[in-house]
Amino acid sequence: MSLFPPLSSRLKSRHQKLLALVRENTGRLLGAMACMILMSGSMAAVAYLVEPAMDRIFVLRNEQALKLIPLVVVLVFFIRGASYYGQEYLMGWVGENIIKRLRDMLYGRMMDLPLSFFQGEKTGELMSRITWDVNVIRAMVTTAVTSSLRDFFSVVFLTGIIFYQDWKMAIFALFILPAAFYPIVHFGRKVRHLSTGCQEAMADLNSHLQETFTGNKVVRAFNMEKTEKERFFAKTHNLFTLSVRQVRAKSLTSPIMEFLGGAGIAVVIWYGGYLVFKEAKTPGQFFSFMAAVLLLYDPVKKLSRLNNAIQEGLAAWDRIFDILETSSEIIEPENPEALAPGPHTVAFDGVSFGYGDIQVLEDIHFTVKPGEVVALVGASGGGKTSLVNLIPRFYDVLAGSVTIDGHDIRNLSLATLRGEIAIVTQEPILFNDTVRNNIAYGRPGASEEEILEAAKAAFALDFVNGLEKGFDSVVGELGGRVSGGEKQRLCIARALLKDAPILILDEATSSLDTQSERIVQKALENLMAGRTSFVIAHRLSTVRHADRILVVKGGRIVEQGDHESLLAAGGPYARLCAMQMEGPNGKDDHA
Ligand SMILES: Nc1ncnc2c1ncn2[C@@H]1O[C@H](COP(=O)(O)OP(=O)(O)OP(=O)(O)O)[C@@H](O)[C@H]1O
Ligand SMILES: [Mg+2]
Repeated sequence: MSLFPPLSSRLKSRHQKLLALVRENTGRLLGAMACMILMSGSMAAVAYLVEPAMDRIFVLRNEQALKLIPLVVVLVFFIRGASYYGQEYLMGWVGENIIKRLRDMLYGRMMDLPLSFFQGEKTGELMSRITWDVNVIRAMVTTAVTSSLRDFFSVVFLTGIIFYQDWKMAIFALFILPAAFYPIVHFGRKVRHLSTGCQEAMADLNSHLQETFTGNKVVRAFNMEKTEKERFFAKTHNLFTLSVRQVRAKSLTSPIMEFLGGAGIAVVIWYGGYLVFKEAKTPGQFFSFMAAVLLLYDPVKKLSRLNNAIQEGLAAWDRIFDILETSSEIIEPENPEALAPGPHTVAFDGVSFGYGDIQVLEDIHFTVKPGEVVALVGASGGGKTSLVNLIPRFYDVLAGSVTIDGHDIRNLSLATLRGEIAIVTQEPILFNDTVRNNIAYGRPGASEEEILEAAKAAFALDFVNGLEKGFDSVVGELGGRVSGGEKQRLCIARALLKDAPILILDEATSSLDTQSERIVQKALENLMAGRTSFVIAHRLSTVRHADRILVVKGGRIVEQGDHESLLAAGGPYARLCAMQMEGPNGKDDHA
């Protein structure tokens, strides 16, 4: 259709993918199309029926026509109603289906993107793509397909009637139409531009909501309610301004069309009336012609809005595609190597790593033997978490390699690699689900006994049983309804249940009191037996039994050895120990 040049010229590969998505629904679309044709046909029939109704009933007073024509009218309107229903239902189905597919594609893609992607984007904005932007595309597809097909056919049929009734007058009436295309194209462009702005403003709003709702405690603690309200108001104001401008651009398209349409009708009335006066036409023919012109008017107006809907949709589609086409830095190998079961050797070989341009780890060399427990200690910000994050490939090394049993981890499939690792992350993260489901998170099929066992080993059983609904208690968003130490114990239980040969504990017991920590520590030590373990701790008492202690400072391993030898060496580790011993109570909690 050369009616809409912006559409055809933009059929880039992205848009072909959109068409592919639409094409998946071909069957239903064809059904809807049939209904639309019926509907447009019935509309044209109404216009046509005006002629026999006028001329035969009112002018010629034909009795048979009096009986027949009302029946035909009823039938025509019935067909019109039924086809309207069919078309709305089928198109609604297709629209919802496209939304679902898009949401699934987006979420599927996001879940496969590396952690760094989420750190670079605002959560609320990403949510906005899945919840809001896809709606704009639905609107584009359904209204656009519906109105373009239905209204297109209506225009074709009604034009047919007009030409049938009087082709000279028809040319007159239609002559004015092409002049209307300029504003359509012009405003279409504007709408597309504004629509992107609106979607961004909406995403910004979402992100603000998300942050201030989840971080609500801090907002209140620092008396920032007023500021946050003002920030929010500024954002809604921005969205308001953009939306209003969009409304203005959209609503200018119709009146311009309307005005031009009205001018066309005026000419028709003048010329047609003149012909009737001259008795070159029957009033029936003239009114049938007029009815068709008037009926034509609505579909043409809708067609003029179509471009706006398409422009809005394409803007949203681009935003969605920006995510779908984000390439992952963490690439899965094409032919992944297999890993032998059992305790593994983990080795860092000349590893360097950084975030963006900032170098965080430099030239890290060490090997952890199967079943060995290695502790990482050192000042905050030294790079301990960054170092262990490389093992499950949350990030990829910049130089050097991390190997498991001699296999570069980049040659293992992510599923295999991560299946071998149980991790307790530094921030304890729980989901708003029951205690049971949180513990069984990595192993959905775990038996009740295994869950109980894991909770017991993590020293969580007592407090879980003390909760109102025990294992069925819901922990609140991000575990907001349990204490910091309780959260940690549930995270430990979750890792224990996974029962993997490599164990990573990043400050896993930091929120526990000394006594609980000692008990959990005991459980962890039992667990570590036969597993390759990485333990990060600031409280040195918890790592003194490690087979080897690595002191990480400024992204390098500055010292390593066991507790005794490091103490004897009198280096950084000995100084760290000495500082912890100088606590307010004189001696720290060393066993
Ligand atoms: N996602 C990130 N993006 C950019 N920089 C980061 C990121 N995570 C950590 N860093 C930086 O990397 C350095 C090392 O951080 P890391 O979390 O590894 O330290 P750490 O030794 O675990 O500290 P802590 O004992 O406080 O947990 C820090 O300077 C930190 O600011
Ligand atoms: Mg850390």
